[in-house]
Amino acid sequence: MTLRLSADTPGIDRAAQLLRQGALVAFPTETVYGLGADATDARAVAGIYAAKGRPSFNPLIAHVPSLQAAEDLVHFDDLARQLARAFWPGPMTLVLPLRDGAPVADIVTAGLPTLAVRVPAAPLALRLLERTGRPVAAPSANPSGRVSPTTADHVEAGLGDRIDAILDGGPCPVGLESTILMPVDGTVRLLRPGGLPVERIEALLGTPISLEAPGDTPTAPGQLASHYAPQGRVRLNVTQPDPDEVLLGFGPINADLNLSPTGDLTEAAAQLFGHLQTLDRMGARRIAVSPIPERGVGRAINDRLRRAAAPR
Ligand code: TXA
Ligand code: MG
Repeated sequence: MTLRLSADTPGIDRAAQLLRQGALVAFPTETVYGLGADATDARAVAGIYAAKGRPSFNPLIAHVPSLQAAEDLVHFDDLARQLARAFWPGPMTLVLPLRDGAPVADIVTAGLPTLAVRVPAAPLALRLLERTGRPVAAPSANPSGRVSPTTADHVEAGLGDRIDAILDGGPCPVGLESTILMPVDGTVRLLRPGGLPVERIEALLGTPISLEAPGDTPTAPGQLASHYAPQGRVRLNVTQPDPDEVLLGFGPINADLNLSPTGDLTEAAAQLFGHLQTLDRMGARRIAVSPIPERGVGRAINDRLRRAAAPR
């Protein structure tokens, strides 16, 4: 049995303390239960992917208790602020340009220049976020490929032994994930329909908005084959690097940079995006990568590495 925390002050305080220590804590929002981790802690966030068995590094939503807290993380233009004032707290997520030096680990955005942020309406979630005092990254608290959980029992059944605690706030009132919007140059792009009806957004703006068609400028990073590619050419599953290759290692080997000298996949996931950026800063022209086991979060690492190595 996972630690079950009750929706009272001691329960909330304990959940906040666990989050600040790098633990994985499921908590209810008005939409669905989220699997939370301290968004400033790359290792903690990597644990989310491991627990969910998520096959790719989808960027995650950073949850904060107020518009003011969101302004520390991303840039709001007038349109974004209008949306936030109208619909926060609530089931709406905004994808906005990440601020330089924002306290968010690279793995949260999967290396993108934008960050998805949300102020949830559930009072319990708001109190938890206030207590934690850090942005909390949280996807839905379900194993990859299964439906999003709307009760604590649902979370327990899916992820029970893989997470540290569940804050039990009863069933989620919305039960459907948040609506994801990306305001760009005065227009609003709908990236995912969700708990906030499109009609309400249209009523606020006085203009129709439509779902982003696949094939439009891709914004969902999974659609971009070479999105995570560093400047240099990448060769995978290399045990013997060529003399002109920089080796990105894994496990107890002699490498220029190592994702995890101890061969810990969770650590490797936490390091991946940062190391790829370091390779760019080093000006690496040819990059060899050690074999990464195709299990657990290793599948997510390999998925991103294959994109990095894809022809472009
Ligand atoms: O209601 C919800 O949104 C719940 C609760 C826990 O807040 N969370 C949730 O998270 O549904 P998740 O990870 O299941 O879905 C987040 C979606 C993904 O499809 C991801 O690709 C997209 O948000 N996303 C996140 N950051 C993005 C970004 N920078 N650009 C485009 N899409 C982004
Ligand atoms: Mg989900």
